[in-house]
Amino acid sequence: VTAPASGEQLSESALSEQLKTAAAAAAKRTPNDFIFERVLGEGSFSTVYLARDIHTSKQYAIKVCEKLHIKREKKEMSIKREKEIMQLIGLYPNPFFVKLFCTFHDHSRLYFVMTYAKNGEILPYIHKVGCFDAECTKFYGGEVVLALEYLHKLGIIHRDLKPENILLDERMHILITDFGSAKMEADQERSTEGAAAVAGAGDEEAPGMRPRKNSFVGTADYVSPELLTNKPAKKSVDLWALGCLIYQLLAGLPPFRAPNEYLIFQRIVKLEYSFPDGFNPTAKDLVHKLLEKDGSKRLGCDEMGGYGPLKAHPFFEGLDWENLHTVKPPPIT
Ligand code: ADE
Repeated sequence: VTAPASGEQLSESALSEQLKTAAAAAAKRTPNDFIFERVLGEGSFSTVYLARDIHTSKQYAIKVCEKLHIKREKKEMSIKREKEIMQLIGLYPNPFFVKLFCTFHDHSRLYFVMTYAKNGEILPYIHKVGCFDAECTKFYGGEVVLALEYLHKLGIIHRDLKPENILLDERMHILITDFGSAKMEADQERSTEGAAAVAGAGDEEAPGMRPRKNSFVGTADYVSPELLTNKPAKKSVDLWALGCLIYQLLAGLPPFRAPNEYLIFQRIVKLEYSFPDGFNPTAKDLVHKLLEKDGSKRLGCDEMGGYGPLKAHPFFEGLDWENLHTVKPPPIT
């Protein structure tokens, strides 16, 4: 809806058109407003579909959750949190995140209408080329740094950063998704007060935590040592994941590898990893500074002076931080 220029009179038909546009924008959508084309991905509590808006022909990724499943697994609060965190991100637009356009529900399901990332996950690109060269790693690592800087400024911890959650848009820029594990740092800090924090109670489903039975949640590869030892997650868990990502982009494989999850966890808590021959020495220094066991000593965390020192690391030298999302990304070869 556009405001008429001052002094200009709005004709009745123009008014009617504008009111229709405004009503359509405000109206709650239903599944019938979309054609569901195919499954893009499946999570433990949801399925993401590629869908087309029948009115505009625009494509969206729609995350669908079964209400019964959410209720049975007591996920009501975490779904609500996921929605609120995505809405918060929408209040301060940033190019590096999947946008939440609207939500709706029917008798049995919840629907999140989000940006469709045309080029999908970054993971198959790593597999296709074996590993990224230094220039590509610098660019994509740099975009992830900017995304985390923005999130952390808003007090949001992603807690499940991994190549499956880093999507690529039609211009091959990143779009970070999946806020199903994300938390506000302020809530985290509150949960550290009192005995509740000791066993991670009230936070049973953080990635890497498994206080109830032995149900590991999330991906083993990028879990930080503090999550495995039941310490409250701070923003620095995302910096650990960034260290794992930069390692994986350059080496082709994540840093902590073992035949099963338990052995991976053992390696993580013992900081048992090594670099392949020929690993870029400047990147090696950066990875060392991110894969710090003590979260408060990781490059990029508040205690270490925040994002300034991380962005000033020699590995990122020459990167045009201000214009990263507008430049043409280096080809992945
Ligand atoms: N897979 C999961 N979410 C997606 C999205 N938003 N776009 C493309 N593929 C996806």
